[in-house]
Parts: sequence; C-alpha cells; structure tokens
Amino acid sequence: MAKKASNYLTLRESRKIISYNLKQMKYYEGLKRRKRSAEEYTTVMKDENNLLEIEDLKTCFFTDSGTVMSVNGVSFNVPKNKVVGVVGESGCGKSVTSLSVMQLVQAPQGQVVGGQIRFNTDALGYDEEGRKICYDIVQMPTRQMYSIRGKDITMIFQEPMTSLNPVFTIGSQLDEVSFLLDPKISKEAAKEKSIEMLRKVGISMPEHTYTCYPHELSGGMRQRVMIAMALAGNPKLIIADEPTTALDVTIQAQILELLRELQKSQGCSIMLITHDLGVIAEMADEVVIMYAGRIIERGTAREIFHNPLHPYTVGLQKSKPLITSKTGEPLYSIPGQVPNPINLPNSCYFKNRCEKCIAKCGGDYPPEIRVSDTHAVSCWLYQQGEDAE
Ligand SMILES: Nc1ncnc2c1ncn2[C@@H]1O[C@H](COP(=O)(O)OP(=O)(O)OP(=O)(O)O)[C@@H](O)[C@H]1O
Ligand SMILES: [Mg+2]
Repeated sequence: MAKKASNYLTLRESRKIISYNLKQMKYYEGLKRRKRSAEEYTTVMKDENNLLEIEDLKTCFFTDSGTVMSVNGVSFNVPKNKVVGVVGESGCGKSVTSLSVMQLVQAPQGQVVGGQIRFNTDALGYDEEGRKICYDIVQMPTRQMYSIRGKDITMIFQEPMTSLNPVFTIGSQLDEVSFLLDPKISKEAAKEKSIEMLRKVGISMPEHTYTCYPHELSGGMRQRVMIAMALAGNPKLIIADEPTTALDVTIQAQILELLRELQKSQGCSIMLITHDLGVIAEMADEVVIMYAGRIIERGTAREIFHNPLHPYTVGLQKSKPLITSKTGEPLYSIPGQVPNPINLPNSCYFKNRCEKCIAKCGGDYPPEIRVSDTHAVSCWLYQQGEDAE
C-alpha cells in the first residue's frame, strides 16, 4: 500500500511503461503511414448545420510516468456561423482538443486514440441517401489534411510570441500564407494582400508594420498579426486558443470586438478557448465546460450563465468578481486541485472538491444527462432528479 501512495516508480515499473509506450507509439504511427482510400477518411454529418462535430474524442500522451489521458471522450458540435466557447481550468485539455482538430498533437508521444472529428466540407457533396459527406479528421492522411489546414480551418495560437518566427519580417511571414493558399500568386499581389489584411485587423501604418520584425511590435500588434494570418484564406472555422491572455484589458476588448466583427462579416465559426468567463459571456453563443479531459456541462451561453447546474460551473461563476459583490469579503475559490491525469479513476473526477457530493459519486463516472435540447450535464445530482420524476 505504501508503495502505491508514493509518486516514485521502481525501475521495473519504469521499464514496463517505456516498453508499453514504444509499442503503442509504433502502432499508432504505423496506422498513420498506412495508405488509406477516400472511403476510410470520409463519413457523413449527423447534422448538416454543424461545421464541426467532435464525437467521443480521445487523445493521450505516452509519457515516461504513464499514459496521460488529456482528452477523454469529448463530444460537442460547432454549428455554422456560431461562436462556441470552451472553458476550463489550466491543464483540462482545451489546447489538446484544438490541436487534435488541427492534427497538430505532438507525435509520436501524443496520439488521437479514438473518436471522430467530422468536418463539414462542400467539396464532397451528398450520398445517395441525401446525407452530407464530410471528412473525418482523425482518419485523414497528413497529405490530405494540408488541403484544409490553414485554409478551411485556421488557428490563433496561445502564445503569439513563440508562434511568429523571430528571424523573418511580418511581411514575409504573411506573404507565405498567400503563397501557400495560391502558389501562382505574384510577389506584388501577395504583398498587397498582406497589407490589406494588416489594415483589416486594425493596424495603423500597415506598410511600415509589413517591414518590421516580430520583436519590433507590441503584444497586441503581434496578436493582430496572428489573427490576420488566420483570416487570410477566408476560413470556415477559426480556433482561437486564449487569443487575449497575454494582453491588457483594453486591448483584449478591442481584439475580441475585432474577432466578433470579422466572424460576422466573413460568416465563419469560431471555437474560442479561454478560462475567462467574462470573455465567454461577451462572445459565445454556446459554451462547453471541460474538466480533466472531459466535458462536464454544455449549453447555450444563456443556460450556462443563468442556470449553471454542475457544482464546478457554479463554483467557476462564484469565483468571478462582480460589480455587485460585497466589498471586504474574500473572493470564492474552488478548493483543491485538478486530479493527476495519469490513472484517473472511473468515477466523477470532481468529487473530492465538490460541496454537493453524494454517495453515488463514488460509483461509475456520471453519464451525460440532457436537461433540455441544448443543455446537458454530467453529474449524478441530476440523474437522481430524473429518477424521481
Ligand atoms: N506534449 C505533452 N506531453 C505530455 N503531456 C502533455 C503534453 N501536452 C499536454 N499535455 C498534458 O495534457 C493535459 C492538457 O493540456 P492542455 O495543454 O490541453 O491544457 P489547457 O486546458 O490548454 O491548459 P491552459 O489553460 O493552461 O492552456 C495536461 O495535463 C498536460 O500535462
Ligand atoms: Mg492551453
């Protein structure tokens, strides 16, 4: 027992993990290299009005201390022309979910081991039964992925500092996007397009900025350049991974306003990842709350803010300062920490931190309980309610 409580691994355990990891990585890398016919990576959309349907996505990292289940059965949809907010504490798997959609999970240790990511494309048409044919990004070969990544799906990364190359000018990095989208475009046309993009994202003196290196720009400008890059190809889906974390509040408001405006004018969808509920309240149409690699509650922004159900969502809302909060009282914080993602139990992960924990919480992981057409929660408290009905 004492050995189990310890965080140390014996040499034998360590060797066992490493050999298991090697086998798994070889298996999944082999699957990727396998030649696939179009039927294997295309499927049909469940609802044509969705742009993206993620179903039971499982992404893990084979690390030396064990398998980290970063995303453990996540399912949600991104409808067309909508902003979907993904919220959760640090380390709950928000970035890994978005990287899985982009096929950018750090291989070979990081692998998508299950589920489907259906991306609605107009390129494939309908099947005989009238269902929309779409791509399944999980099964898609890398070469095929190039046709949609950076064009139909783009990403604004979490760290604008590290996402821009320090040795190239902003101009050459923006031009590169145009060359990728249209290899036949002339240098002059690419430059014109880049300057136009910089102007669109609200950079004053775009001609000057075009010649600057990333270190010569402020954080807000760099973030705008990242947004310009993401918007260059008129994408259908923009994944914005905490686009405003590194910015001060005034610039943050400007950038969010800009994203919202561009989303409306270009008619695209945004998957907005953040741990700031204020940002979500302002921007999102639908909200997904994640905790330790799983979705614990999802619904429209109205449902999540006016009728939060999961004790974690309620706690998140309580820990937000409000203009009506009493002065002098300490701000509420959820006690405890997110559990270790290695060897998670098959019961509710939040039970140790939950004030409303009941006997059933020690049992199986709660299923997703539908409260309305759009609102669902994974918590035994509401299953009981259903039983009682
Ligand atoms: N390359 C990696 N190798 C091993 N584990 C990883 C790797 N990348 C992510 N993880 C693990 O996956 C889990 C989810 O990480 P992720 O980056 O998705 O968190 P996040 O929700 O985006 O957090 P944040 O809000 O801090 O950005 C974490 O437990 C992390 O330790
Ligand atoms: Mg992240």
